[in-house]
Amino acid sequence: MNYKVAVIPGDGIGPEIITEARKVLDKIGEKYGHTFEYQELLMGGCSIDAYGEPLTDETLEKARASDSVLLGAVGGDVGKSGWYELPPDKRPEAGLLKIRKGLGLYANIRPAVLFDELSGACPLKEDITNGGFDFVVMRELTGGLYFGERKTIEENGIMKAIDTLTYDENEIRRIARWGFDVAMKRNKKVCSVDKANVLDSSRLWRKVVKEVSEEYPEVELSDMLVDNCAMQIVRDPKQFDVILTENMFGDILSDEASMVTGSIGMLSSASLGATKLGLYEPSHGSAPDIAGQDKANPLATILSAAMMLRYSFDLEKEADAIEDAVKQVLKEGYRTGDIMDNGKTLVGTKQMGDLVAAHIK
Ligand code: IPM
Ligand code: MG
Repeated sequence: MNYKVAVIPGDGIGPEIITEARKVLDKIGEKYGHTFEYQELLMGGCSIDAYGEPLTDETLEKARASDSVLLGAVGGDVGKSGWYELPPDKRPEAGLLKIRKGLGLYANIRPAVLFDELSGACPLKEDITNGGFDFVVMRELTGGLYFGERKTIEENGIMKAIDTLTYDENEIRRIARWGFDVAMKRNKKVCSVDKANVLDSSRLWRKVVKEVSEEYPEVELSDMLVDNCAMQIVRDPKQFDVILTENMFGDILSDEASMVTGSIGMLSSASLGATKLGLYEPSHGSAPDIAGQDKANPLATILSAAMMLRYSFDLEKEADAIEDAVKQVLKEGYRTGDIMDNGKTLVGTKQMGDLVAAHIK
């Protein structure tokens, strides 16, 4: 098959890690008889420099016309880049919000996996993580506080800022279905996270999730308040399978979840909607401090490409081949700086990409 992949290298280490992901995809293409046709698009700071805005409508249309989008990272140094002196809707991250909304990508899946080979990097005590953990945060991505009405006004000489948190039942229902569908392919447990002791939006969330759960009798549903969840992720991460939550809570909890794995450079993510078109990106940022130095860990992007094969193209075997190759390379002791350990072999971005490509079976 021939697949049209829009690639958005972005800023900072983005271009380097995308190069390695393409290398691995091309190897998959060679071995399994597919062709990946890439179209490079600008988003983030580089688009601001070229066009004065972080994502143009033309670029969004090109992304929409592709089969899938692979993204590196966007954003730069707040002090140095100059991009953060622009109004908020012209900054690099606004491009990210625009593409999520524009492509209708309301379901964001962020895996938090403790890789056996990297358990030494986990900041939690061994008795907590013994045997490993593997859960996903299913985050609603196009609603809530991120997209509610906001304004800053002056009232009787006093500045006042207002952000609104809105969810309707349809928005909750469709993300809940994603949560349960993914749980059906995993360990059949959904923990729905909200702040129902305070927020109306959370009370509606809880009610709709409960209704949806009736369509999935095999899946065990529990509810948890978000503050408690933040605590439980460090107290006992093994209890989770799918954490289902709204946009802002998911933003915060997914950072926490990636931190407890100890290897954020390894974590991929997928943003999906009602069609097969998805956006795949590493969970980490653009790391401008190490950009262009062949130091970045490309594995999260390579694993995001694997997610793309699995969710957008239904290429299960090929996705497994990438994941197995990554595991094998780690088993053989190769590490980039962020996951380096005593007695292991330090490699750069390019060599890591070469190694994974060479291990594709
Ligand atoms: C993320 C990021 C974004 C978000 C920022 C860059 C707007 O933190 O993808 O989690 O908050 O969604
Ligand atoms: Mg975030």
